[in-house]
Amino acid sequence: MLAEVPTHARPVERTAVLRQAAAVAGELVTALSALAPAVAGEDVPAESTSQSYFRVREVELSDQQAALHGALVIHRGLEDLCDAPLSGADLALEVVGMRQSVIDLTGAAPGTDPDAVAPVAVPEPDAEASLEGVWSARWLIGHQVHVLFNVCAAVAVADATRHLRHGDGAAALQRLADATVYVRGFPAAMNHASTIPADYYMAAIRQTMAPPSTDIPLSGRQHRGYKLFRAAMKDLLTVVPDSYDQLAARAPELAEARGALLEADVVDAERHITLAYSMVHLRRSIAQRPEGPDNAVAELRLMRHRRAAQYAPLIRFGDHYIADAVAGLRHS
Ligand code: HEM
Repeated sequence: MLAEVPTHARPVERTAVLRQAAAVAGELVTALSALAPAVAGEDVPAESTSQSYFRVREVELSDQQAALHGALVIHRGLEDLCDAPLSGADLALEVVGMRQSVIDLTGAAPGTDPDAVAPVAVPEPDAEASLEGVWSARWLIGHQVHVLFNVCAAVAVADATRHLRHGDGAAALQRLADATVYVRGFPAAMNHASTIPADYYMAAIRQTMAPPSTDIPLSGRQHRGYKLFRAAMKDLLTVVPDSYDQLAARAPELAEARGALLEADVVDAERHITLAYSMVHLRRSIAQRPEGPDNAVAELRLMRHRRAAQYAPLIRFGDHYIADAVAGLRHS
């Protein structure tokens, strides 16, 4: 019976649709470049070793330039996704995050009719690229999509907080929903970067992120875009610190919207644990301090538990078991 299922048809269709999306993103890049030229990233000094490694820069941009640089990241991301063996669920989350960032960065109204996009010429894929070259590039491309989502999420959360401070509940709900799209995209982009063989990561990539290749060992903790997001989340919770029950009683929609965002943030931490386990198994991370837990997985678990404990009273299905345990540890 299984032989009758045309299992080959769907991946081909998926790739064709991604090629089309990448070509559309390419057209967007061309259109935006005509309005404002791209900033040459290599000419901008990196703020950290991590930025230099991942080819990320921070600089004041006009709205048009910001849209262009976002579109460039999305274009490269979509081109790579044509070949990356990302799960269908993560592919959907990442593409929806990309769509949201195009909406936020260009100010375009979201379209609903997929046929409204005029067909564009799809370039032939680059048959020359070596697999190793594709994997090394993917490691950077996935990280850059992650950074784009981090920054867009930080802006969305900061907007929501500002709207709440000014009493504009409807606008706050919208930006919380936008932020949730990005945060659900974080682990999708993280998995995209990691759709490379673990053996290749261990043999070829890992060493490029530690001395002597770099002056310091690199860790995700150093991502400045991610720190911006964490700071925005902290500020949001100073404006709405209420427990889930209190908030649900006075503003049920806000309780749900905040809950969805916080759940996505916990799940991101949870998925990071299993990702690191797939890549480095039980090894110490390249960036761990000697006094840290035994390995990368344990360190990431600790991060998950702290976040889950903090959010337990704030979400509907909070992890009260871990919240009690963490509270007990604090008092011991
Ligand atoms: C595209 C995004 C990311 C990917 C693909 C990724 C992947 C990984 C991998 C493979 C490891 C194991 C490192 C090794 O020893 O070889 C790791 C460790 C870790 N990651 Fe990430 N990560 C990402 C983003 C982040 C971010 C934004 C944070 C922010 C907190 C973070 C925090 C950590 C921590 C705390 C560890 C373990 C200890 C350490 O290396 O500092 N990661 N990650």
